[in-house]
Amino acid sequence: MVVLGIETSCDETAAAVVDGDRTVLANLVLSQLDEHAPYGGVVPEIAARAHIDHIDGLIAAAMREAGVTFDKLDGVAATAGPGLIGGVIVGLTTAKAIAAVADLPLIAVNHLEGHALTARLTDDLAYPYLLLLVSGGHCQLVAVERVGEYRRLGTTIDDAIGEAFDKTAKMLALGYPGGPAVERAAADGDPARFDLPRPMRGREGCDFSFSGLKTAVRHAIAGLGHPPTGQDKADIAASFQAAVADSVVDRTANGIAAFRALHPEARSLVVAGGVAANKSLRRRLEQCAAAAGFDLIAPPPALCTDNAAMIAWAGLERLRAGLTDPLDAPARARWPLDPEAPPVRGPVGKA
Ligand code: KG4
Ligand code: ZN
Repeated sequence: MVVLGIETSCDETAAAVVDGDRTVLANLVLSQLDEHAPYGGVVPEIAARAHIDHIDGLIAAAMREAGVTFDKLDGVAATAGPGLIGGVIVGLTTAKAIAAVADLPLIAVNHLEGHALTARLTDDLAYPYLLLLVSGGHCQLVAVERVGEYRRLGTTIDDAIGEAFDKTAKMLALGYPGGPAVERAAADGDPARFDLPRPMRGREGCDFSFSGLKTAVRHAIAGLGHPPTGQDKADIAASFQAAVADSVVDRTANGIAAFRALHPEARSLVVAGGVAANKSLRRRLEQCAAAAGFDLIAPPPALCTDNAAMIAWAGLERLRAGLTDPLDAPARARWPLDPEAPPVRGPVGKA
């Protein structure tokens, strides 16, 4: 089985071809970093236009690299949400056109499902497992039970974790994207110099919160009384990263306990999403998993950040399960992985 995957939900235009033996035949990602950098964040309209400019050529290149033609495909999968709606429409419409012309099944994939199933592509992991999804748009703990069946155990009640990294980087003028910049700066910093809050630590449940931490970083910078020096920046970045890790590990430990109550036999924690590239967070999660007798599975960074191989793979799993979509499948800005999940309790709920 061979599936073409298309991803356009944020600032990466991506196309990939994956086969049923878990071989990634092509995996191309075109980042729009340069287009958005002057604005310090993703501008939806610029992103949508850039996707339009690049998607056709990128798909052609991926097909060439994979050595397949449309008639050799078994399906075409595209991210149908959640994400920036203009971009989602570009990728999904392109997939529909290919499906219509080549007479292929269309699979409208939830972007979060792509992240959720990546460990099955990279590590052949069996269901069920616990997923910690840490990205620019999300921070969730999800029990992955089988394709299409996800139980959200916890989520952020305010900001996403990657957003907190990006905003901290912006306040420290470390550049965009913020996550890698904060990690680099933190390497030379003292994590104990600033006493930042550990949001939600010690509380029941597995929800996350990051907006208070962001405010605390702003106060720490203001409290210096002068523009931060290089060392100040390093110390704030290190203190921020330590606070995030303490909070995430505390919430994840609760998540493991909740997951165990559902699936006593399961022993795998998967971390996915762009923030999973953070090495100090990974180390802490490894310890947290080990303490509970769990293995931590972290797909390689190129498959943790946004890519189309994960969309092709999720499409392949859905296709195998007979879950295909009509050509009028909608693009969705919001699309919770677990529609049954209770609404979040925070001030600004995010699905
Ligand atoms: O999954 P992703 O590529 O895009 C989505 O949000 O879906 O995640 C991007 C996020 C950004 O916020 C970026 O700053 C963060 O992942 N990130 C990191 C690191 N690398 C990327 N955060 C912390 N440490 C990193 N090394
Ligand atoms: Zn993502």
